Amino acid sequence: MTLDILPFVRAGDETAATRLFAEALFQKLRPFFGEVDRAVAFLAPHLCRERAVTALVDGRIAGIAGYRLAGRELFNPGWADLQRHFGLFGASWRAAGLSLLEKGKEAGVLSMDGIAVSPEARGRGIGTALLDAICGIARQAGRHSVRLDVIDSNPRARALYERSGFIAGETRQLGLFQLLFGFSAVTEMHRAIDPGNAPSIQPPATGP
Ligand SMILES: CC(C)(COP(=O)(O)OP(=O)(O)OC[C@H]1O[C@@H](n2cnc3c(N)ncnc32)[C@H](O)[C@@H]1OP(=O)(O)O)[C@@H](O)C(=O)NCCC(=O)NCCS
Repeated sequence: MTLDILPFVRAGDETAATRLFAEALFQKLRPFFGEVDRAVAFLAPHLCRERAVTALVDGRIAGIAGYRLAGRELFNPGWADLQRHFGLFGASWRAAGLSLLEKGKEAGVLSMDGIAVSPEARGRGIGTALLDAICGIARQAGRHSVRLDVIDSNPRARALYERSGFIAGETRQLGLFQLLFGFSAVTEMHRAIDPGNAPSIQPPATGP
């Protein structure tokens, strides 16, 4: 197996990367899109290739981790896109629901937008490698920590984050909205970035 970690989504991989992300994180997306295909159709055109690190196994995309920086995130649909796709009412409740999952901005912190590894590639250290790559980007961007959110029904992901140096902070209860999402709480986790020690990845010569 050849594993490559890239600091972007390759041109041409937008749909495959979005599908990998949407299938792995469908529990969060289901209330908004209902089906994976609808999520992919809506999100793929709004993917920002420079706001993800990706894992290629033997040249094929097998993992993705998104992050937010300089006002851009992994997917960047605007209000007009939501309204065009879902109509005014559909766009309004989806925007309200998405804001519940939104992370507040914190100075000096790089926020992650989710991580996913394809089922057949799991358990080989790819998730760990993607987290390390994100920490390298945070260091290059001068951030002192990386933040992510983990849902209460995903203990495996939480164990991975803890092994990778993330420490749990505040937990937000979703209250009645748990009926919509199917999970009841979201916990913030932070990993401190040592400016001298965080791993760094170099963009390959080809660039995005
Ligand atoms: C969470 C997720 C990204 C982890 O990706 P991964 O590539 O399997 O992660 P890793 O391989 O680095 O580590 C996970 C497991 O493999 C083990 N592992 C790590 N390196 C390994 C290696 N070189 N060889 C074999 N196993 C390894 C770890 O000990 C861990 O074991 P466990 O979870 O079974 O106890 C992946 O399971 C996933 O996409 N899940 C669905 C989406 C999701 O839940 N995302 C997180 C939302 S908060």
